[in-house]
Amino acid sequence: MTGIRENISLKPYNTFGIDVQARAFVSVTEASQLKEILEKNTLPVLILGGGSNILLTRDFDGLVIKNDIRGIELVDEDDDSLVLKVGAGEVWHDFVMYCIEKGYCGLENLSLIPGCVGASPMQNIGAYGVEVKDVIREVEVMDLADFSKKTFSNEACEFGYRSSIFKTWAKGKYFITAVSFRLTKKPNLNTSYGAIDSELHAMGIQQPTIKDVSTAVIRIRQSKLPDPKEIGNSGSFFKNPVVEQVVLDQVLQCDPDAPNYPQPDGTFKLAAGWLIEKCGWKGKLLGNYGVHDKQALVLVNHGGANGKDIFELSEAIITSVQEKFGVTLEREVNIL
Ligand code: FAD
Ligand code: EPU
Repeated sequence: MTGIRENISLKPYNTFGIDVQARAFVSVTEASQLKEILEKNTLPVLILGGGSNILLTRDFDGLVIKNDIRGIELVDEDDDSLVLKVGAGEVWHDFVMYCIEKGYCGLENLSLIPGCVGASPMQNIGAYGVEVKDVIREVEVMDLADFSKKTFSNEACEFGYRSSIFKTWAKGKYFITAVSFRLTKKPNLNTSYGAIDSELHAMGIQQPTIKDVSTAVIRIRQSKLPDPKEIGNSGSFFKNPVVEQVVLDQVLQCDPDAPNYPQPDGTFKLAAGWLIEKCGWKGKLLGNYGVHDKQALVLVNHGGANGKDIFELSEAIITSVQEKFGVTLEREVNIL
């Protein structure tokens, strides 16, 4: 297999814009190329899509495989719905826009999330009241142990909040090559997330289409989240903690205004951004990196920062939230 390059900077391949080196790097455009590459490879492997959910804290003495497997295929259709099988290297937002243009419904709330289709099941991407598990039918992978092809049904992926088997017991075992989505032909709009309704109202729209909902979501996101092309970041650095009643009571004792969202199983989701802001971190600048001034859940690289410093900042944030509120934050971002 040709196309393997050596000593490559990963700066263009991660949205934090961290400049580390990979010993070897290859882009894969067909699932069939993978076997050929992996059979001959003896180095550790790092799979990258858009690099928008990873913090690189060191050089990688291994082979980076950049997933560029493309293609959108209609594999099933009935009067109400259809199934699309999508190459894992398709850009997520472009795929969402493609569906909206075609009138395929279900992805509109997930507009403008960076990254590739193949990473969407990894942490069950979610935004504005929708998670990708709501539309995934199955996930196709190559088993890295024996290069066999396997398919996981939606149920087998064990999706949870920012979680799936690909982030838990199956971490590092599989290369996701394609994802199939079941989408509907008639919209079933989810504007329950308050901000969407108010944005649609501000846009003067009473009877929204999926395109309108997508536009509203894009506008809200652009007002809060930094554009990685301008400021390096990986979106939410931490997950929102899900806690038992006893921990919620402890937090409310500290501050009765703490936002909290009851979950169906009797637990409560807390707003990590709020907890971090209350610890005084919002907008904090430590030289060329820090905490975003509009969203305390987002750590930022203003240019030239190194991953270790950002990781240490995340440690300091975890410690201070633990000390003030007794809540342990868990990182959402993958760390190398
Ligand atoms: P990468 O960063 O390339 O990879 C992420 C992890 O998955 C790595 O561990 C990598 O090794 C592994 N991986 C990637 N592709 C494959 C594959 N094909 N097979 C096996 N393993 C693989 N996320 C949300 O859920 N909701 C949001 O609203 C959201 N907003 C964001 C906003 C901004 C500005 C940014 C920068 C990020 C945001 N994110 C959000 C996080 C990120 O966009 C998602 O996690 C996205 O799915 C990552 O895709 P990627 O292709 O960039 O993954
Ligand atoms: N908040 C603050 N201060 C802050 C940030 C937030 O007080 O600095 C409060 C807000 O006022 C609000 C609450 O926290 O009461 C929630 O904030 P927001 O609606 O901005 O959402 P979030 O919980 O911070 C989550 C996801 C985002 C997703 C949005 C929209 C996680 C970890 N993050 O953020 O996902 O886009 O909701 O659904 O669940 C990502 O995963 O990378 C990501 C960006």
